[in-house]
Amino acid sequence: MKRCLTLLMFAVVAGILLTIQPVVASAATVCIECHGKLAGELGEIPVAHWETSIHARHRVSCHDCHGGDPTDYAMAMTAERGFIGVPAYEDIPAFCGRCHVGVEEDYRESLHGQVLSFGGPHCATCHDNHAVQVATIDLINEISCSRCHSYERPARIREQISATEQMLTRLESSIASLYRVGVDTSRFQEDLFATRNSFRRLFHSVDIDKIRAETARFDEDLEQTRTALSELEETLGTRKLVGGALVLLLLLGGCIGLLIKRTYDKD
Ligand code: HEC
Ligand code: HEC
Ligand code: HEC
Ligand code: HEC
Ligand code: HEC
Repeated sequence: MKRCLTLLMFAVVAGILLTIQPVVASAATVCIECHGKLAGELGEIPVAHWETSIHARHRVSCHDCHGGDPTDYAMAMTAERGFIGVPAYEDIPAFCGRCHVGVEEDYRESLHGQVLSFGGPHCATCHDNHAVQVATIDLINEISCSRCHSYERPARIREQISATEQMLTRLESSIASLYRVGVDTSRFQEDLFATRNSFRRLFHSVDIDKIRAETARFDEDLEQTRTALSELEETLGTRKLVGGALVLLLLLGGCIGLLIKRTYDKD
């Protein structure tokens, strides 16, 4: 009996290990293994920063950006295996733009993109190279944006997009609470997702007039979503009221029925 239990436990543990193993194996690469042991700029810093990033959460790893072979210690950093290495300053927009195509387009057309070779900012200037986080309006701040010019224009852009940003956040939480009570919100989610993505790209134009004009258009789209949402919320509210009233009526009916029955029984 005891041996049987031990065997059973062994089988369970082995089963768990077998299911976990492939996940671990696909996250660990020779790049992380070797660089994890190197000091400073070569290892500690990039590895630790990358681990905190949105890229790590989405499994975009060293080799997805720098190229190379993540499975072969000896050949990892060879040109044969597609190693790109560290991009030059001016090559960074194309380096990140392989995956962020739309953002790169907007950036290229902007004044920032046009002055890249004269010290204009590139993607990693604002987002960092390894510690990249979810992008929010807080990336527009005095410390970051006054490294090269005054904060006056950045502040105007931030003000311009913050009302729309707040509206987006509010709608997101309305949708989330409807979803929690079992309402099918997929249509709203799709609408909002599309609007949010094109809206968050807009910043890269750093063109105040364009941002003002387009923000107005986004506000209209969002207003439509908001109206549809509050109509739905009202309908649900009314339905709840009607439902509640019906339950009350039924209860009342039941009580009266019971009373009548009792009266007859007594007789
Ligand atoms: C066996 C250890 C080892 C492995 C495996 C390894 N690296 Fe390196 N890497 C180094 C060392 C040491 C340096 C610094 C010396 C040099 O540039 O060759 C370096 C340098 C780099 C640099 C900076 C190059 C430059 O021009 O400054 C990058 C980027 C890099 N590695 C990325 C990777 C990626 C991506 C992988 C996996 C595909 C990888 N490494 C695998 C040890 C390693
Ligand atoms: C999102 C893309 C991206 C990922 C993922 C990424 N890197 Fe980098 N890395 C860059 C960029 C861009 C630079 C150049 C930054 C610059 O010049 O400002 C860089 C620079 C480096 C350098 C040169 C030293 C330095 O800090 O400038 C090393 C070494 C390096 N990366 C190693 C790694 C390792 C190891 C990993 C995985 C843990 C990794 N990188 C993941 C984009 C990335
Ligand atoms: C001058 C600073 C700056 C530069 C340069 C910059 N960004 Fe951004 N980026 C931002 C800010 C600020 C936001 C957030 C805007 C918002 O919340 O509306 C953002 C948002 C983003 C987003 C999220 C957009 C979305 O669809 O959700 C991505 C991805 C991104 N940037 C990638 C890049 C890439 C790639 C480059 C280079 C081609 C780049 N950024 C250059 C500041 C910058
Ligand atoms: C191999 C593809 C790839 C490369 C190269 C790449 N990224 Fe990403 N990036 C992703 C994925 C996947 C996500 C997570 C999904 C998403 O939000 O789009 C992401 C997310 C982001 C976000 C957060 C977007 C948000 O929703 O808020 C920013 C900012 C960003 N990346 C910037 C960069 C920068 C800067 C570089 C270059 C240093 C870069 N990326 C290179 C694939 C890539
Ligand atoms: C690495 C330097 C650098 C950083 C950092 C930087 N900028 Fe710029 N920016 C420039 C240069 C160069 C110009 C073009 C010369 C000028 O107009 O001052 C410019 C121009 C602008 C313009 C005018 C665009 C136009 O079409 O008239 C705006 C707006 C702007 N930046 C916003 C920002 C914001 C917002 C940030 C922070 C998220 C930022 N910048 C960070 C270098 C930078």
